[in-house]
Amino acid sequence: MPVFSQDHLLGIKHISRDDIELIFKTADSFKEVLQRPIKRTPSLTGITIANLFFENSTRTRISFELAEKRLSADTVNFSAASSSVKKGETLLDTVNNILAMKVDMVVMRHPAPGAHTFLAQHIDASIINAGDGTHEHPTQALLDAYSIREQLGENLEGKRIAIAGDIMHSRVALSNFFCLKKLGCEVMAVGPPTLLPKYLTKLGVQVEHDIQKALQWCDVMNVLRIQLERQDTKFIPSLREYSKYYGISKAMLDQLDKEIVLMHPGPINRGVELMSDAVDSHHSIILDQVQNGVATRMAVLYLLAERRKSRVGTA
Ligand code: CP
Repeated sequence: MPVFSQDHLLGIKHISRDDIELIFKTADSFKEVLQRPIKRTPSLTGITIANLFFENSTRTRISFELAEKRLSADTVNFSAASSSVKKGETLLDTVNNILAMKVDMVVMRHPAPGAHTFLAQHIDASIINAGDGTHEHPTQALLDAYSIREQLGENLEGKRIAIAGDIMHSRVALSNFFCLKKLGCEVMAVGPPTLLPKYLTKLGVQVEHDIQKALQWCDVMNVLRIQLERQDTKFIPSLREYSKYYGISKAMLDQLDKEIVLMHPGPINRGVELMSDAVDSHHSIILDQVQNGVATRMAVLYLLAERRKSRVGTA
């Protein structure tokens, strides 16, 4: 039986193609569980998981909570807005206090890139990165690739995936680049030059500035929003101008002489990067991505719990 190679999920950069394939295979089993009338397994009975969100989240937080409940784990939720972080407590003190209550695993979203790596070096719990600043969002990339696999088949070797939008400020983009390249995809980044970082070619990612050319090239178009909250200077003249050159409508997808899969990690800014008719069209698998998030996160939690069991002999 193959085992996950890491004690934590800090980023896609740190895991192998075999790890990714193992997560997908495990997610397939959990997806089957989620179709049953009683959508629950006892796999994580006796495990306590703390969900620590130092940044806002809708999809990731709910998806992890649901995944944990479906696996019969005990969960505690922490939100920075209503915590003693506001009184000046450090990240390490906050987490150590929570761990003193005998927590086995920590799911954390934090605005500081690398916060999870720091924690993993200082505490004994298994750490799962639910987003660290502009760095990585590994479970989003895993559920994205899992959703692509459902559309295009299990072998993604040579499939053409374009990621459009604010690549510069996106943790989803970086995790997707690592994941898709490990799976053998051809990957393209699309957007205005000011929103495309210089490191792309080093990762083997093609660069394109024309959204029409990118749509013609790709099998899958994964669209990101403009992250105004992460931009301290102006990278585009206005959202209106961005939308004029990069906004995707249903008509643009319909007129292609091929099938195309449309994705978005959410939250969507309707009328900016995607027109409403594209979001709601038959090309879109955006809600499938959300649904697959639960099975994919169940797989990650389960594999890390198994790994922890073999490492510390508890759980
Ligand atoms: N895709 C994603 O991370 O969404 P949330 O910010 O709502 O969790």
